Amino acid sequence: MIELAPSILAADFAHLADQVRAATAGGGTVVHVDIMDGHFVPNLTMGPPLVKSLRKVTELPLDCHLMIENPDLFIPEFCEAGASWISVHQEVCLHLNRTLHLIKSHGCLAGVVINPATPVDTLCEVLDIADYILVMSVNPGFGAQRFIPGVVHKIRRLADLRSQRQLPYRIEVDGGIDLTTIAEVVRAGAEILVAGNAVFGKGDPKVNAGNLLKTAVEATFLKV
Ligand code: DX5
Ligand code: ZN
Repeated sequence: MIELAPSILAADFAHLADQVRAATAGGGTVVHVDIMDGHFVPNLTMGPPLVKSLRKVTELPLDCHLMIENPDLFIPEFCEAGASWISVHQEVCLHLNRTLHLIKSHGCLAGVVINPATPVDTLCEVLDIADYILVMSVNPGFGAQRFIPGVVHKIRRLADLRSQRQLPYRIEVDGGIDLTTIAEVVRAGAEILVAGNAVFGKGDPKVNAGNLLKTAVEATFLKV
């Protein structure tokens, strides 16, 4: 099932509840929350208190993308705050199997994220544990960056591995997704489409979300 996950990184934080409502009205079904620590990525964003506040204003799943070192230290707190899905970067997890089980033990869906330079093969031993795999299509840290087309083959490979091994994980993509790139990632096999700037950057988030979703759904008809 195709789902649009508006990324609130690009939203107006002073009117966050309204912005989330508008993106939801346009068809967003997952709220993507980018957590950055200033170490793993060169930017700082939000933490558990914001997740707790968001939990009060939307019933949609809160998809917390942890771009932080030592994620095990914070996973319980994010779950407690109301996170529904938690993804961790392969690049920072020395004990990825343990971390995924930790997320699940708190009742959240567990995802693994790979940077543009990280091969899909690094995930072979956890594909049967992860609920979703997030393919970064920009280098993480900032919104409104340009989509890296060289990652599309990784989405295709994840879709192939899933059918070969008959696994249930979903495939998410994040970074530079807009009206010009969304169809390509959908045709490659991505189902959860994160978009920040393309939803909240300019214009009405409701209209923007609606147009993105429409383009994504139309692309599924063209899948080969
Ligand atoms: C980047 C974040 C993304 C970001 C995407 O590190 O993980 O979720 O918000 O923003 P856009 O859609 O503007 O590229
Ligand atoms: Zn993200």
